[in-house]
Amino acid sequence: MEPSVKVSDKTFRPYLSEEQILTEVRRVAARISEDLKDEHPLFVCVLNGAFIFAADLFRMITIPDAEITFIRMKSYVGTETTGKVKTIAGLHESVVDRTVVVVEDIVDSGYTMERLVHQLKDDLGAKDVRVAVLLNKPNARKVDNLKIDYCCLEIPNDFIVGYGLDYNEQGRNLKDIYVVED
Ligand code: IMP
Ligand code: MG
Repeated sequence: MEPSVKVSDKTFRPYLSEEQILTEVRRVAARISEDLKDEHPLFVCVLNGAFIFAADLFRMITIPDAEITFIRMKSYVGTETTGKVKTIAGLHESVVDRTVVVVEDIVDSGYTMERLVHQLKDDLGAKDVRVAVLLNKPNARKVDNLKIDYCCLEIPNDFIVGYGLDYNEQGRNLKDIYVVED
């Protein structure tokens, strides 16, 4: 790993090596493969941040009929007083009565994931929605009762980049994960 990297206007230092990350991704992939071996699961990768995690995770899944698709969470400004509402963009597959595994890079406040799980289950009729995340920041949570079924690593409330995660859209191509220097 580089001793430090500059991304946009900030300096970041090494935090998690690619090897450490992949060890945890392998562990989670094995658990999902075992838990859902009798299902026909649809993995739903949340773009952009989760694309590298999803690529590694999905290749380690041993369920023969597993499928993957990609979505974006789109924010709208409410026409009334509701503020920002997030909706799914780009999901063309039906999830009715299917087991869905949401693949997300990181859960911070939890707003994005709460909204997504609610839409998949209650609006789109998924049978079961499992949440798989690379990183979880439990201390940043602003919603209650968000269940994370599969988590590679829990981290403190630090800002990180690399392995798909960005700062100002940059740093996604770093192989390892770096944390911002204060
Ligand atoms: P939430 O709705 O607050 O949970 O936001 C989650 C989203 O914020 C993630 O999908 C990331 O795109 C972004 N995010 C949260 N923490 C970080 C970080 O440390 N680095 C890069 N992106 C982050
Ligand atoms: Mg994201």
